[in-house]
Amino acid sequence: MRVLGIETSCDETGVAIYDDQAGLLVDLLYSQVSLHAEYGGVVPELASRDHIRKTLPMISDAMQQSDTATHEIDGIAYTSGPGLVGALLVGASISKALGLAWNVPTIGVHHMEGHLLAPMLEKSRPTYPFVALLVSGGHTQLVSVEGLGRYEVLGESVDDAAGEAFDKAAKMLALGYPGGPAVAAAARSGVAGRFKFPRPMTDRPGLDFSFSGLKTFTMNTTRNLSARAELTDQDRADIALAFEQAVVDTLTIKCRRALEQTGLDTLVIAGGVSANLALRESLQSMADGMSAHLFYPRPELCTDNGAMIAYAGCQRLKGGHKEGLEILARPRWPMDTLTPL
Ligand code: KG4
Ligand code: ZN
Repeated sequence: MRVLGIETSCDETGVAIYDDQAGLLVDLLYSQVSLHAEYGGVVPELASRDHIRKTLPMISDAMQQSDTATHEIDGIAYTSGPGLVGALLVGASISKALGLAWNVPTIGVHHMEGHLLAPMLEKSRPTYPFVALLVSGGHTQLVSVEGLGRYEVLGESVDDAAGEAFDKAAKMLALGYPGGPAVAAAARSGVAGRFKFPRPMTDRPGLDFSFSGLKTFTMNTTRNLSARAELTDQDRADIALAFEQAVVDTLTIKCRRALEQTGLDTLVIAGGVSANLALRESLQSMADGMSAHLFYPRPELCTDNGAMIAYAGCQRLKGGHKEGLEILARPRWPMDTLTPL
């Protein structure tokens, strides 16, 4: 089965073709970062309009680059939610129109299920059951994964997502947008130990997270320093490192707790923040220490992409799931309400 995947939930247009025999044939990504950079964050209306401009030409390119004729496409998968409603509507409408024209089924994929399954596109892939840490710009969740579509959310952020906290910290430190890679880059020249940031909600039981306090802590630290003198690059790097270490430690503590609590020995990390090297290293040494296995996708499959949507859609279409012609954009869509396969 060959599936066209379309991702338009936020500020990246992703188009990919996945074949269950030949694997990932093509994976194209267009990032709107420069469009939103001057606003310091994503402007939803600009995002929708840009998806309209980019998606169809990218589908043509993907078909051409993978030498795929329209009659070779067996199904179309699109991100149906969660995300920005206008942006989601673009991918959903294009998918339904193409599905009708090509007479193939379409399937709306949950964006976080896409992230969760991204490691399945790698050679070394996890086997069910496992614990997944999903860390993106909009979500921070620990999920117990029994199988495809069989998810139990063990804990999640009660306020900001981890990626959102990275983005806000970067803004306060004037490091640019998107913030995660910028904070990580600055942290590389930081000196450890100058600032002590809290590890929120780690001193009480449970698997929920809170990152808004770290944001306030970053703001206060930055303000206190800049009240005395203009912030230097070293100040920024030191704060970035302290912030990154706090997020990484917090996520590591909760992942260990989730493995212990479930008795599972496999941890999967996915979503934009899972591209963070400090996080990968910390989780790897934690996993090694408890003889557990850690899986994560290559960096370009951690952040938003069409490949994960094509893969997830292919699994669901093979499992017999399909939809009618209704255009389904679900800005909010709890993961544990998904249909099991
Ligand atoms: O999964 P994703 O591409 O989009 C969403 O579904 O939200 O995640 C984007 C988030 C952004 O907040 C970005 O700052 C963060 O992932 N991110 C990182 C890194 N790369 C991306 N955070 C920390 N370190 C990174 N290297
Ligand atoms: Zn995402």
